[in-house]
Amino acid sequence: MRLGVAVSGRGSNLRNLVDRGFEVVAVATNRPSCGGAEFARERGIPLGELAQKAFASAEDRDTAMRDFFKVHGVELVVDAGYDRIHTRPFLEAFSGRIVNVHPSLLPDFGGGMDAVEQALKAAAPVSGATVHVVTGELDAGPILVQEAVPVLAGDTLETLRARIHEAEYRILPEAIRLMEARLAKSPAVG
Ligand code: GRF
Repeated sequence: MRLGVAVSGRGSNLRNLVDRGFEVVAVATNRPSCGGAEFARERGIPLGELAQKAFASAEDRDTAMRDFFKVHGVELVVDAGYDRIHTRPFLEAFSGRIVNVHPSLLPDFGGGMDAVEQALKAAAPVSGATVHVVTGELDAGPILVQEAVPVLAGDTLETLRARIHEAEYRILPEAIRLMEARLAKSPAVG
């Protein structure tokens, strides 16, 4: 299945997908200097550089991202550390075909960028990682796969984040395979 991956950060989930042989046909970013964008350049994967400042509105930027992914025949969008909320033009074009990886056991610690910090602050004994289908609502949408990750005594943001990332590298590929199976039964994307 042809994947379009949206990134804003380090891009380690993107790298993991490519290393595991997933067909990443396009990468889009709102932060052209991020690690994920750099990785796409290194590997020669078509890169859509869509910094918000180049567009009048979030909808305009998302229209450009939609067109970029469509031109490359993307069938499933993977938000892998993408820090923007998709707006209507994008959500409508890829309805039911966008997944997101989030560093907590949703619905715990949803709704933002600091899920790992929140888990530490709450002294939660367990956190984890979730892959869910993206709907218009932040960190909601049907859950595809989750993995619990223990929070250990003495954990810092870095150590806990690293342990959660390891879980993400397992569950994101699994979730994509589930979506592939599910989408194989539905009509091709228009
Ligand atoms: C991951 O922890 C993911 O859950 C969150 O952003 C982080 C991205 O990491 N949405 P990377 O850029 O893939 O290394």
